[in-house]
Amino acid sequence: MQESFSELKITRELKAEGEARKFAEIAFRNLSFLEEFYYYEVVDSTNERAKEKCRKFCLFFAERQTAGRGRLGRRWFSDRGGLYFSITLPFYEAAKLTMVSALSVAEAIPGARIKWPNDVLLGDLKFSGILGEIAKDKAIVGIGINVENEIPGQLKGYATNISTFYKISRAEVFERFTRNFNKNYSELVSGNWSELFQRYRKLCATVGIKVKVITPSGEFSGTAELSEDGAIVVGGQKIYAGDCIHLRV
Ligand code: BTN
Repeated sequence: MQESFSELKITRELKAEGEARKFAEIAFRNLSFLEEFYYYEVVDSTNERAKEKCRKFCLFFAERQTAGRGRLGRRWFSDRGGLYFSITLPFYEAAKLTMVSALSVAEAIPGARIKWPNDVLLGDLKFSGILGEIAKDKAIVGIGINVENEIPGQLKGYATNISTFYKISRAEVFERFTRNFNKNYSELVSGNWSELFQRYRKLCATVGIKVKVITPSGEFSGTAELSEDGAIVVGGQKIYAGDCIHLRV
């Protein structure tokens, strides 16, 4: 049976209070394309809600998720204190949209670096991930950012949160992300991918180091380079999707 979640639909008139109003106000101020903002105290996964509604240019925002999903079928821990949201957009190449989202997170936090394709790191630890999906004629980008949420014991040594490094509120992180995303998305749809790619590449910690990329058709190791279509190039092999491990040398 389908679980039901309490959903608050907010438009530019901002008829809402409390946290819902605070985050909707930031989203509408910064995202010029945004038409509707959906707020949940708790939800299964904002990507699932985004898939269910057929509208584009909406943002689905949750305080916590009970079934947060990551790439490659993994779970995304979503306790209170983090940022969990999904944006629906017209159909576009998912790889470029997710790279632009990762860039918008990385450019929001000083010292952040990207691990190909769309993990965002502070030091060597991941604090943000993007799940890009295509559903019928729309693209969905789901963004998870660990801000003040506690990192579960099983992820210690692999994941971190921003508050370990900076004293910054969730609202300020959301403010910076939405501002960056608005600018970067509009550059993307205006055809400025090359410039975005160069900025992504500069912030990408994967470039020039030894990596292992695990794909359904095998494992590839070597020094990484990126190609402008979003693929990683390892040992002359172009790979579009896979699990990338940075190897220590
Ligand atoms: C990853 O790094 O594997 C991607 C993580 C994506 C998590 C976000 S949180 C908001 C949205 N809803 C989900 O269920 N997943 C994405």
